[in-house]
Amino acid sequence: MKVLIVGSGGREHAIAWSVAKSDKVDKIYCAPGNAGIEEYAECVPIGAMEFDRLTAFAKEKGIDLTIIGMDDPLVGGVVDAFEAEGLKVFGPRKNAAIIEGSKAFSKDLMKKYNIPTAAYENFTDQEEALRYLETASFPIVLKADGLALGKGVLICNTPEEAREGVKTIMEEKKFGDAGNTMVIEEFMTGREVSVLAFCDGKTIRCMTSAQDHKRAKDGDQGLNTGGMGTFSPSPFYTAEVEDFCEKYIYQPTIDAMAAEGRPYTGVLFTGLMITKDGPKVLEYNCRFGDPEAQVVLPRMKNDIIDVMEACIEGRLDEINLEFEDNAAVCVVLASDGYPVSYEKGFVISGLDRFKEKEGYYCFHAGTKSAPEGIVTNGGRVLGVTAKGDDLKEARKNAYEAAEWIHFDNKYMRHDIGKAIDEA
Ligand code: AMP
Ligand code: GLY
Repeated sequence: MKVLIVGSGGREHAIAWSVAKSDKVDKIYCAPGNAGIEEYAECVPIGAMEFDRLTAFAKEKGIDLTIIGMDDPLVGGVVDAFEAEGLKVFGPRKNAAIIEGSKAFSKDLMKKYNIPTAAYENFTDQEEALRYLETASFPIVLKADGLALGKGVLICNTPEEAREGVKTIMEEKKFGDAGNTMVIEEFMTGREVSVLAFCDGKTIRCMTSAQDHKRAKDGDQGLNTGGMGTFSPSPFYTAEVEDFCEKYIYQPTIDAMAAEGRPYTGVLFTGLMITKDGPKVLEYNCRFGDPEAQVVLPRMKNDIIDVMEACIEGRLDEINLEFEDNAAVCVVLASDGYPVSYEKGFVISGLDRFKEKEGYYCFHAGTKSAPEGIVTNGGRVLGVTAKGDDLKEARKNAYEAAEWIHFDNKYMRHDIGKAIDEA
C-alpha cells in the first residue's frame, strides 16, 4: 500500500521510520517532510495546512492511508477534508481535535464527566479574569485557550505577575486569537507523565509511558520549548497509577467524547501530573507527542499500520499493543538560542554513524538537504534516541550518540532522564 504522512518534525520522522518497517507498505510520501524523512519517503513540497493540495495529491497518487502527525491541520479539520473526498485518513476529526484546540473545551469536558484535573475557571472577559485573581492563591496557571506551539501557558508566582499575564494573553494577544479565551487554573505539583494512546472512537489502547523535558535549560530552567528530550518508560508511572488512569481518565475521556457526539479516533496524548492526591490531567493533545514519539515508537512491537487501520475501522479491541521490555532516551540537539532566536543553515556531520546501528536513531526535526549536505533548518534540529536494557543504560547510550553529531551552535540539555535517579 501507499502511505502519505503529513508533517515535518522529529515525530513525523519517527512515524515514517515505523511505517517503513511494515510489510504492508510499498511506498511512503511525506508532505512536506525533512532531510531525514527522505531516507524512507518521497518528500513533496505541500504544506500541512494546504488541505486541497493534500487531498488532490492523495487522489492523484492513489494513497491508501494518510497519517496526520501535526496538531494544526488536525484542529483545522484536515481529517474531515480527506473523508469528504472518500480518502482513508488516520487522526481525529475537527470536532474531536478540539480536545487540544481549545483548553476551555477540554476543561469543561473533564468537569462535566468527573475526570480528575486542576480546578479552573474560563474567561472571555479580561476584567473578570483580573477580578478572579483578587481572591486566588498563588502560584497560579494561565493558559491561552487555543494552539500556541506549547508556549501559551504562564505559571505566575505573584498577583502582579498574574495580572501582567492576563494582559499579555488577552490584551496584547501575544498568542494571537488563542488568547480570546483564557483558562486560569490551580497550580499542581508532582511528576509529569505523557501517555499516548490509540483510539477508535470507543476503545482506547495505551502505549508505554514517557516523560518530556519542556524547559530549555538544565535543571528545568529557562523558557518552555516544544520539548528538549524524553525518556520511556516513566518509573513514576507505576502499575497503581496506571490502574487509576485506566479507570478514571482514559476510558472516561473516550466515552465522554462519544457521548458529546465527537467520537475520538487517532492518537490521544494525555499529559498527566501525578500529584499527592492522585493523577490529574494537565492537558490533552490530539496527536503523538514530539519528542515522545521518538522514544515510544522505537519500543513498539506492533505493525503501526495494523494498529492505525484497526482504529479507523473501529476494531481496536482486536489489537493487543506490545512494547519491548527495555527503555529509550531521546536527547534533542537544538540550535543555541532556541526557542527565542537562532541561526539556520549549518552543515551537520556524523549522521552516517547511526545507519544500521541497532538501537540508535537520529530523528530529524529541523533539517534540509542543501548542495553542501544536510543543514540545520530549525530550532530543534535532531532527536538522538538510544535504547538500553534499562533507563540508565539508554541514557548513557543516548548521550554517547549525541556526541557523534556536530554542527555549529549545537545545544542540548545534559540532564535528560536525570529524574530516573530519584525513582
Ligand atoms: P500544557 O501545554 O497545558 O501541557 O502546559 C505546559 C506545561 O506547563 C506542562 O507540561 C506543565 O509543566 C506546566 N503546567 C501546565 N498546567 C499546569 C498546572 N496546572 N500546574 C502546574 N504546571 C502546569
Ligand atoms: N512533547 C509535548 C508535546 O508534544 O506536546
